Amino acid sequence: MTAGIDLGHQPQAQAIRSDEDVVRVRQLVRTVAVAVKLSLVDQTKVVTAASELARNTLVYGGGGTVEVTTVDNGRRQGVQIVFSDSGPGIPDLDLALTDGYTTGGGLGLGLSGARRLVDEFQIETSAETGTRVTVTKWSR
Ligand SMILES: Nc1ncnc2c1ncn2[C@@H]1O[C@H](COP(=O)(O)OP(=O)(O)OP(=O)(O)O)[C@@H](O)[C@H]1O
Ligand SMILES: [Mg+2]
Repeated sequence: MTAGIDLGHQPQAQAIRSDEDVVRVRQLVRTVAVAVKLSLVDQTKVVTAASELARNTLVYGGGGTVEVTTVDNGRRQGVQIVFSDSGPGIPDLDLALTDGYTTGGGLGLGLSGARRLVDEFQIETSAETGTRVTVTKWSR
């Protein structure tokens, strides 16, 4: 056992039902990103991605939850974030990931931008089960 901060690897869950919750998601992701020693630039990237995904969960998913977990692949530490909602799902993922595509009068840059800001990006979505977006950012 080495001395230092116990990162735990226990997921920290947070509901996403309001704008205030989106702010809390940003704060939670920032705290965990600092704990796994991401650079300041990478902290900001993953917080920005999380903010966009949390907003989508709220606006299009009708609210949902986020789980933030520290991960360790033996070489690097990272932060993994899972956004889940029980909304209508995304009918055409390729389209939704296209820069500028929006059904809600936004800029259509949230999903595509978030994908570019993280190291791993995965979406599972269906009309029956809603949408789950998983992102991971590793320390360098
Ligand atoms: N959780 C979700 N559930 C259902 N549809 C979603 C979800 N997230 C995204 N979408 C769909 O994907 C589209 C693109 O999302 P994206 O975040 O890129 O753009 P936006 O939210 O419309 O605008 P912006 O994020 O730039 O303000 C959305 O307009 C919406 O149709
Ligand atoms: Mg968006």
